[in-house]
Amino acid sequence: MVTQPLFDLFFQRYGKPEKIPQIFFAPGRVNLIGEHTDYNGGFVLPCALQYGTYLIIRKIDEPIIRLASTNMDLYTEIPLSESFCQIKNQWVNYPLGVLAQFLQRNIAIGGLELLFSGDIPNNAGLSSSASIEMVTAYGMNSLYQSDLPMLEMIKLSQKAENQFVGVNCGIMDQFAVGMGEKNHAIFLNCKTLEYKLVPVLLEGISMVVANTNKQRGLADSKYNERVAECQMAVAYLGDLFDVSQLSEISFMQFYKVQDQIPDEVIRRRARHVISENQRVLNAVSCLWNNNIQEFGALMNASHESLRDNYEVTGFELDSLVDEAQKMHGVIGSRMTGAGFGGCTVSLVRNESLNTFIEEVGEKYKARTGLTADFYVVEVSDGVRKIIN
Ligand code: GLA
Repeated sequence: MVTQPLFDLFFQRYGKPEKIPQIFFAPGRVNLIGEHTDYNGGFVLPCALQYGTYLIIRKIDEPIIRLASTNMDLYTEIPLSESFCQIKNQWVNYPLGVLAQFLQRNIAIGGLELLFSGDIPNNAGLSSSASIEMVTAYGMNSLYQSDLPMLEMIKLSQKAENQFVGVNCGIMDQFAVGMGEKNHAIFLNCKTLEYKLVPVLLEGISMVVANTNKQRGLADSKYNERVAECQMAVAYLGDLFDVSQLSEISFMQFYKVQDQIPDEVIRRRARHVISENQRVLNAVSCLWNNNIQEFGALMNASHESLRDNYEVTGFELDSLVDEAQKMHGVIGSRMTGAGFGGCTVSLVRNESLNTFIEEVGEKYKARTGLTADFYVVEVSDGVRKIIN
C-alpha cells in the first residue's frame, strides 16, 4: 500500500499537515483448522493475511482522544479526563479497550488522533476486530516506547476484547495477527502458548476465502454460549479425568466415557472440541509431509463437525461449503472463524480457480439469494510499522 493516500485521508479528517503521523498495519487472519479449540486450551492453525487494518496515528497537545475510521461512520472524541466507557455495538470499543489496557498498566497516554482504514470485510470471521486491537496496541507501544513484548500486546488485546467488548474469545486471533509470518501457518498450543511456524507451500494450489455476506446477528452472544457449554462439559468430565479444560482429554478417553455427559447437546459440543484438537495434529503432520489431499479431507471433516456437533455453521455457510466441496479441483473447504455466518476457506487447484469462483458463486446465489465475495489470499507477515 502506498502511504500517501492514507496521509491524505488523515489530513482530510484532522487537518494540520505540519505534524506527520505514523502508520502501522495489522493483518486479518484465516484459520486453516482448529475451530473453537482455543478457549478450550487446544491447538489451532491460523495464518495472517495480506488484508488487514492500517492505523494512522499522531500525538496532539490537547488532552483528547479522537477516533475515526474510513470504513465506519461513527466518529468519537473522548476527553482524557473521562474514563473510557463501552459504546454499545460500536467499532471504537476495540481500540478503546486497548487504550484502557495501557492505562491499567500505568502507561501514561496523552492526546491522540487515530484514523483506522481496513481492507478486510468487517465481522466476517477474518478477525477484523483482532486486527484493530493489535494495530492499536502495536502503534501505542511504538509511539509511547513502552517496550511491551509481542506476547504481552497479544494478551492485552485479548483482554480488551474479553473485558471491554464483552466477548469471551480465546487467544488465537490476536496471536495470529501478532506472530504471523509470510508463507507460514502458526501451529499454536493455546494452553502453553508454545508455537511452531509450519511452512505452507501450496504449489499449484490457491487459498480462497469466500464471504457468505450473511449478517452475523447474535454471533457474540452465541459465541459466549458455546464457551459456557464447554465449561459445562468440563464440569461433567473434569472429575473423571482431573482436567480443567477439554483439550486435556484425548478422543479415545472421551469415546469411552461420553455417556457420562447426560445432556446430549453438551456431549456433542465436547465431541467437536476433542475431535477437532486431534484433527489439528493430523493436519500439521500432513503439511510437514506435503500430503495436501489428506489435509483437505481434514478440512472437510472439521466443517462437518462444526455443523453437526458444534452447530455454528447455518444455511449460508453450509451451502457455500457444500457447493465448493462438489467442485472439481477442490482439495478441501470449511468455515473459518467463529461461524454463524462469515467466511469459508477452500484450497483450490489453480487450473480450476476461475471456474470455482464463477460456479460456486452462481450456485450459492441460487440457493441463498446472496452474493458471495471471493478473495484469493496470501499468507503474510504479522503486525508492523509501515515505513515511508
Ligand atoms: C473467534 C474467536 C477466536 C476463536 C474462533 C473460533 O475468531 O475470536 O478466539 O475462538 O472464533 O475458533
